[in-house]
Amino acid sequence: MKEYLNKGIKEVVKQFPRIADILDEYQIGCGPCSVGTCLLKDIVNIHNLSPEDEQSLMAKIAEVIYPGPPVKIPEPARRQGSGSREIKYSPPMKKLVDEHVLIKKLVALIPKLIEYLDLESDQGRQLILDSIDFIRSYADKYHHAKEEDILFKYFDPNLDILKVMYEDHETGRAHVRAIVAGVEKRDKSVVIEHLNGYQELLSGHIKKEDEILYPWLDRELSTSQVGEMFSKFNEIDKQFGCTAKRYEEVIKKLEERFKIEPSLSSMTSWVKSH
Ligand SMILES: [Fe+2]
Ligand SMILES: [Fe+2]
Repeated sequence: MKEYLNKGIKEVVKQFPRIADILDEYQIGCGPCSVGTCLLKDIVNIHNLSPEDEQSLMAKIAEVIYPGPPVKIPEPARRQGSGSREIKYSPPMKKLVDEHVLIKKLVALIPKLIEYLDLESDQGRQLILDSIDFIRSYADKYHHAKEEDILFKYFDPNLDILKVMYEDHETGRAHVRAIVAGVEKRDKSVVIEHLNGYQELLSGHIKKEDEILYPWLDRELSTSQVGEMFSKFNEIDKQFGCTAKRYEEVIKKLEERFKIEPSLSSMTSWVKSH
């Protein structure tokens, strides 16, 4: 069993496809993970199962790998605070989760942006560019920079789970570049394709961070690291200052406008007045 615990999950699932269904039963979905070289033993730790769930998951996996008499399942080392499915974020991690709330609001507006997409008028194009400005400034420069320049720096950059996050951020930036190029060329299909791509990517990315990555990183960080990270985040918040508030307003107004007068003419006149 030890041999398989030290193997990459994609390799194990390729050899024993039934294991993917077993992981699914425990809400461990490794399918969307684009790297997939996490070791089987690390996946169990990262997903923070209760000791009972962990035992039954490992027993089911062992049954698939070694059909016949039960095999001995090694006891993994447990960390403080592990086994609880209730998520309690540290103060700096809570800040990141709160920032996700605003980013998710923009992501939720993407179907409306597509529905009323108009690349022929200045106002219609500006609406997309304003949303891109939010993504570049708030989601990327403000939020992703906190993750990449501060939080992830406390960990080995070769960790597979972090590689997935860096890769997601880069894919998001590529979608944004493609949207801007599509707007310039007035190519609706390109803009729609990459708005949809961004929506799908960010929805999954935020879920992975909120539910898996942040709680796991919190369990790995020491109290002094958490304190240091919190003061570094506060420093960034101070520098970004009222810009963060301004973006909250941008999203609020976009939401109100789509809800109250969901027509292109009203959208474009609103854009004009801002
Ligand atoms: Fe991220
Ligand atoms: Fe994030």
